[in-house]
Amino acid sequence: MLLGTQRINHRGHLEVGGCDTVELARKYGTPLYVLDEECVRRTCRDYRRAFESRYPSVHISFSSKAFTTAAVCRVVDQEGLGVDVSSGGELHTALHAGVAPDRIFMHGSDKSHAEIEMAVVNRVGRLGIDHLDEIDALQEVAGRHGAELNVLIRVAPGVTADTHTHIQTGKVDTKFGFSLAGGAAMEAAAKVLKAPSLRLHGINCHIGSQILDLDPFREAAAMMVDFAAQVRDSLGLILTDLDLGGGIGVRYREGDQPPSLDEYAEAVTNTVKERCQIRGFPLPRLIQEPGRKIVGEAGTTLYTIGVVKEIAGVRTYVSVDGGLSDNPRPALYDARYEAIVANKARQPCAHTVTIAGKHCETDTLISDIEVPQLATGDIIAVQTTGAYNYSMASNYNRLPRPAVVLVHDGEADVIVERETLDDLLRQDRIPPRLERH
Ligand code: LLP
Repeated sequence: MLLGTQRINHRGHLEVGGCDTVELARKYGTPLYVLDEECVRRTCRDYRRAFESRYPSVHISFSSKAFTTAAVCRVVDQEGLGVDVSSGGELHTALHAGVAPDRIFMHGSDKSHAEIEMAVVNRVGRLGIDHLDEIDALQEVAGRHGAELNVLIRVAPGVTADTHTHIQTGKVDTKFGFSLAGGAAMEAAAKVLKAPSLRLHGINCHIGSQILDLDPFREAAAMMVDFAAQVRDSLGLILTDLDLGGGIGVRYREGDQPPSLDEYAEAVTNTVKERCQIRGFPLPRLIQEPGRKIVGEAGTTLYTIGVVKEIAGVRTYVSVDGGLSDNPRPALYDARYEAIVANKARQPCAHTVTIAGKHCETDTLISDIEVPQLATGDIIAVQTTGAYNYSMASNYNRLPRPAVVLVHDGEADVIVERETLDDLLRQDRIPPRLERH
């Protein structure tokens, strides 16, 4: 499986963005996150085209949690996407990247007072409301700053998507948003209408992530339009923003067949149009918040093989110089990945091995993968690591977090520097009372 601009060059090496990955590993060290700029840009354009060609008013906003760095925010901004943030740190990054505040949507199921203050002071375009007390908090801060806030109510439509339970977020049993069933969402809408500094623009939902089936998206879209019609009927307000979140799945493994962007956009826009017609509701602006789709397949992680350990008759373990700390997804979600041996990309795959990370944990990156004969020093390229890898990386076992390089047309630029050992100690303090005597 080759993704984005990946290809195998005349040396039999894997290339991404016109850069030989074996050279990248040598120059920048490993583990190394490589991000394919052309693939990100193309996906942004495809996403926009798929929706804009089918629906009159569309806004696509990158869910920055998938890969939060200033350069990534800059690239998606240049492609005409807005940016969603869900914390002060993500907001700080988007603002630093130069994203216009009115193109930023601040989410968060438990925003702190400081985060709300930051969003209001910086005049972000939209804020999501996740619980009733937040309405008072937003009103207080907005009133104090003489600001008017455009807000959306986060709705939990009660749809269960077929994905890992940890990333199902639109169920009835969820910490996110207001449920439709019990009337909580309507109660929230009524309360927002009484807050003088809040403008209720619409509703948003997000039913989950890495979803491969279109039906849950259709179901949620229909329920959201129905709810907008109920708000009109009960409160006399026409909501103009319908934000259906992100969630569309990507290819992790050979044989994965996520819906195409055209199929997905067709399903969502048709449902919204049909449902609006049934309810006699004017077509709202349709908002999408893709994260994984924009960056997932554009990311590749390079590792160097260390120990190769054969347990006769059982399994061969191939250890690499990263793992859990740069990609916690196998441990968290049983996520399965594909890999290419970057310096032996054309050699036949005749051996089955398990690729293990170097952490003091089971730390299985990929179990039972077919590879060529491997040796210490070979470079393994794990694919589809663009989403929720860098952004969920940790320093477990005090491993410095890897660098990120952005590759394009044969050029590679570091967009996040590799952490150094001193970076790891930067926040450490030894209190004077522990001073050596
Ligand atoms: N909008 C909202 C409100 C969200 O909470 C999320 C993701 C998205 C949009 C983007 O969803 P996407 O298009 O990326 O599926 N760490 C997990 C994924 C958590 C997703 C959280 N919310 C993973 O690695 O699979």
